Amino acid sequence: MPQLVSTVTDLRRAIAALKPARIAMVPTMGALHAGHVSLVAEAKKHADHVVVSIFVNPTQFAPHEDFDAYPRTLESDLARLGDAAAIIFAPTAREMYPDGHATTITVKGPSHGLETDFRPQFFSGVATVVAKILIAASPDVAVFGEKDYQQLLVVQRLARDLALPTSVLGAPTLREADGLAMSSRNAYLSPTERGVAAKLNLILKDVIAAAQKGDLRAAETAGIDALYKAGFEHVDYVAIRDAATLDHIIALEHPARVLAAAKIGKTRLIDNMAIG
Ligand code: PAF
Repeated sequence: MPQLVSTVTDLRRAIAALKPARIAMVPTMGALHAGHVSLVAEAKKHADHVVVSIFVNPTQFAPHEDFDAYPRTLESDLARLGDAAAIIFAPTAREMYPDGHATTITVKGPSHGLETDFRPQFFSGVATVVAKILIAASPDVAVFGEKDYQQLLVVQRLARDLALPTSVLGAPTLREADGLAMSSRNAYLSPTERGVAAKLNLILKDVIAAAQKGDLRAAETAGIDALYKAGFEHVDYVAIRDAATLDHIIALEHPARVLAAAKIGKTRLIDNMAIG
């Protein structure tokens, strides 16, 4: 069974006991599903042992967002991981943010626009907690899902800029049979909303097909219209961007990515796909 630790001191001690083995880290907020398990399996390909962190990070939620409602399911998370992880780091908020905590990490570059336009606090919260976790564990590798594609690029930039000794790798999005990207927030969807949610990935495929005809702005607009027609109540964005930088592009000359965020009921869904 994995070792469950809740302090940075105990985490460091547990990792030191595994050295000189290679360590891979999978940071999560818990409510683990098959998508997380696939990140752990990917991590295991690059290391001898995997460390999973489970922490619902308050600083990445705005006051009106779902921090209180976010599912906290430590018992079933432990059961789901089984022996796949060697160590589980499940700190308290006070452990991660002790009284007087005054340090915030801000990553510019890939955090510009998209999610930041709608969740301005999000990436500084993510960057701060991920930096703290990676500095605490100092893993050889850390694996993040491509489902949160902008987050992956932000964390890669953070690790490079702070010269962390950790390679940050992306792992493909795991999807339900109808293509819906797996997410802990899918648990909020009513059966009707779940039916609408499944259209998001199909519409992104249509956006890619339209983009390949040449007019990227027309493809984005058609995607937004299609999401409203499918039953989404609000579309935050459908955007075709350079896959490496998330810069605006006017033609598909380099690998690109289509990214989207849309709301249905109280649930905000994001998804993205590679183009070319
Ligand atoms: O993707 C997530 O689950 C979170 O944003 C992360 C990376 C664990 C930071 O809290």
